[in-house]
Amino acid sequence: MPSAVPKKQAEDPQSVLRISDARKIFEDGTAALKGVRLDVRPGEFVVVLGPSGAGKTTLLRSIIGLERLTAGDVWLDGRMVQASNLAEIRSKVGMIFQGFNLIDNLSAINNVLSGLLDTRGSLATLFYIFRRSDKVRALECLDQVGLLDKAYTAVSKLSGGQRQRVGVARALIRQPRLLLADEPVASLDPMIAFTVLSLIKEICAKQGIAVICNLHQVDLALRFADRVVGLSGGRVLLDEKAEAISEDYVRQIYAGHDQGMYFGATANPDEETVRFGFLGSGSLQ
Ligand SMILES: Nc1ncnc2c1ncn2[C@@H]1O[C@H](COP(=O)(O)OP(=O)(O)OP(=O)(O)O)[C@@H](O)[C@H]1O
Ligand SMILES: [Mg+2]
Repeated sequence: MPSAVPKKQAEDPQSVLRISDARKIFEDGTAALKGVRLDVRPGEFVVVLGPSGAGKTTLLRSIIGLERLTAGDVWLDGRMVQASNLAEIRSKVGMIFQGFNLIDNLSAINNVLSGLLDTRGSLATLFYIFRRSDKVRALECLDQVGLLDKAYTAVSKLSGGQRQRVGVARALIRQPRLLLADEPVASLDPMIAFTVLSLIKEICAKQGIAVICNLHQVDLALRFADRVVGLSGGRVLLDEKAEAISEDYVRQIYAGHDQGMYFGATANPDEETVRFGFLGSGSLQ
C-alpha cells in the first residue's frame, strides 16, 4: 500500500494551485473541510474521490470563493484568493458541471460565448455582444471538442454527450489555468462518459491546463487521473499517483460508505478490465 499523506506540505514551486490547510465550518456547525492541502501542477489531471458528504464540492467551491474558508488559503498562479481579487481569479478558472448548465434555447456557439460573460463589460453581457475574435475563439473551442458542425444548433437538440462537450468548450474559451469539474459525467452513460473525460484529459494536457475533477466512478478515476486524492470526512486520506492506487486503498477511502460501491466490468472502448466503481451524485451548482 502506498505511504500515507506526508505530515508537512512541502513547497512545490511548480504548482499552479496551492491549497493550504483549508478548513470550512458551515454556519450550522458542519465541518466540511478539516485541513485540506493540495498542490496541482499545470497540465496535471487530479481526480478527487470520496463518499457523499466527503467535502468534494465544498473544496471546489472554495477555490473560486463560492465558499469562504473558515481557515487556510488558496493560491492560484501565485495569487492568494481573496474577496478583492475574485473576478481576476475566476477569469483563470473554467468550470464544468454535472447538469451541463447550458441555456437550452441558445445555439452551441452562444453557449460557449457565455463562458466569457463575466470577463467582459456589462454592455456585452446585457446585449450578448461579442468581439469577432471571441466568436472565432468559440468556433475553435467547438472544433476542439468535435462539434464545429453543431455551432449554430440549439443545444436543446443535442445529445447528453454533445451537450457536455459544449460545456467543455465553454470552459475552454476562458483559456483557463485551472479547470474544475464536479462530477462532469455523472449524467452520461459509461461509453459517453469515457469519451468526454478523454477529451478533457487530452485538451488540458496539451494546453497545460490543470484539472481537478470530482468523480464517483473509481474505474474512470484510475483510467484518467494522473493523481488521485481520496477525501473522506473533510480530510485527505490519500494523495497518490493513479498507478499506485490499489483496491484496498479505495476501500479505505469509502470505509463505512460502501453501499453504492460496485465491482466488476463495465464497458469502455479500450476493453480494459474495470476493477471497481461507485455510483453517486452531487454538483457544484
Ligand atoms: N451550505 C451548507 N450548509 C451546511 N452544510 C453544508 C452546506 N453545503 C454542504 N454542507 C455539508 O458539508 C459536507 C460536505 O458536503 P459536500 O457537498 O462538499 O460533499 P460532497 O463530497 O460533494 O458530496 P456528494 O458526493 O454527495 O456530492 C456535507 O456534510 C454537507 O451536508
Ligand atoms: Mg458534491
